[in-house]
Amino acid sequence: MTAHDHPDHAPWWTDCVFYQVYPRSFADSNSDGVGDLDGVTAHLDYLRWLGVDALWLNPVMVSPMADHGYDVADPRDIDPLFGDLAALDRLVAAAHERGIKLTMDLVPNHTSSAHPWFVEALAAKPGSPARDRYFFRDGKGRDGQLPPNNWVSIFGGPAWTRVIEAEGPGQWYLHLFDVSQPDLNWDNPEVFADFERTLRFWMDRGVDGFRIDVSHGMAKPPGLPDMPVTDVKLLAHQDDDPRFNRPGVHAIHRAIRRVIDDYPDAVSVGEVWVHDNAAFAEYLRPDELHLAFNFRLLQADFDAEEIRSAIDNSLAAVASVGASATWALENHDVERAVTRYGGGAVGLDRANAMALVLLALPGAVFVYNGQELGLPNVELPDSALQDPVWERSGHTERGRDGCRVPLPWSGDTPPFGFSDNPHTWLPIPADWAQHTVERQRSEPGSTLSVYRQALAIRQSREELAGRRVDWLETPAGMLAFRRGGLVCVLNAGDSPVDLPEGRLLLSSAPVAGGLLPPNAAAWLA
Ligand code: NOJ
Repeated sequence: MTAHDHPDHAPWWTDCVFYQVYPRSFADSNSDGVGDLDGVTAHLDYLRWLGVDALWLNPVMVSPMADHGYDVADPRDIDPLFGDLAALDRLVAAAHERGIKLTMDLVPNHTSSAHPWFVEALAAKPGSPARDRYFFRDGKGRDGQLPPNNWVSIFGGPAWTRVIEAEGPGQWYLHLFDVSQPDLNWDNPEVFADFERTLRFWMDRGVDGFRIDVSHGMAKPPGLPDMPVTDVKLLAHQDDDPRFNRPGVHAIHRAIRRVIDDYPDAVSVGEVWVHDNAAFAEYLRPDELHLAFNFRLLQADFDAEEIRSAIDNSLAAVASVGASATWALENHDVERAVTRYGGGAVGLDRANAMALVLLALPGAVFVYNGQELGLPNVELPDSALQDPVWERSGHTERGRDGCRVPLPWSGDTPPFGFSDNPHTWLPIPADWAQHTVERQRSEPGSTLSVYRQALAIRQSREELAGRRVDWLETPAGMLAFRRGGLVCVLNAGDSPVDLPEGRLLLSSAPVAGGLLPPNAAAWLA
């Protein structure tokens, strides 16, 4: 039985392991130093060997790449940096031949400022239909020199930029992210009509679904009132931020779902930064998204209590609507787990241990490329930084480049088989020779081996059949739960602990004399 034949005839994505490909950083096939679609196709046998069920590709559509593809100028074509539509078709076909599904990333909240709609809006007059696709507003104060409200950008600085008009005072346009990412006005029916075309365009080409960027942000509060607090952390926001999670967003998701339902096997996964469980669950009602990212596990420290409560919370969040839980330890926006858990050998041990916790859980799991190699975050020199956050924060926030460094595949020197070009878009540290796929493939205790063995057990579904997580009593600092016929034990404490009864299937560190060392986890049958 494969992962796609779910025993209770649940959809393929119910317990699916998605592998997140950050296309710039996965593999470069044309020697320009940037990863691309043919690079992904060339490594599908690796991903099949690893044992993943599906891919999530970060955006590969036409883009000036101000936010590395989250600034889309043409949502229905591939950026030449990554290839072309034929390369996408090759990837879809080759993935499907190997039983791997392919999902793409769509960005409905905003476009690039290079999108023809925005170019048209800039050339048009205030109040024109072209401007109504975005949020253009007159400024406040004398001659409108102040922004229409006090909103700040998630990337730092004001969320409004003033334009120069042919005549009269310049209006301002809204961008919750970079100045090159103007927010779309979803009250304008043309916006949905165009998004529907995009959904159908990719699904008609055989794509199996989408990750939907900023899924909780498309509906803006009527009248665009001031936000109560503007001194907010960059790249983050709380539930009381009035710009997100407006009631109107659910009608948008229902409209999207009606289109997706025309393709019965397609999945939608929302990026939903909403912490309140009841509000989060609303996105997963039967006529909205199939799945939504839950970030609690990724935000938990390496602490047994915190991890347990993150798991309970994530399960509780989906229970009321009967949706599948989702789990992740990493993605392209957050620090790598090894570094988050303390870095060095301890951080690596902890990240390996958490891999076994992650892969034992019921629901859809997301593994970010390089996570299976135990890659740490990289301290890049200022001159290498590319994330718009670096500039917009006035060089106070280094941004997300450190978790986006290209993958080391083979050999002893950079670029480690990632590219033929030594000038990769971000430099790869020389000491990543120890992390290459080639080296870890033949090391029994490597992170890659842990992932591969865990994925094989998960895919066979013999032990990991159940959908429940039952906690077992453990001393402080430890965590143990049963799922189906498998018990997962984590030692987040300081001293070795006795393993419970059972046949040892897999451990993230050597187990001697029935003792699980600190910063390790084990699976028992
Ligand atoms: C969330 C994406 O994950 C992030 O990378 C991007 O910068 C923002 N949305 C804006 O599109």
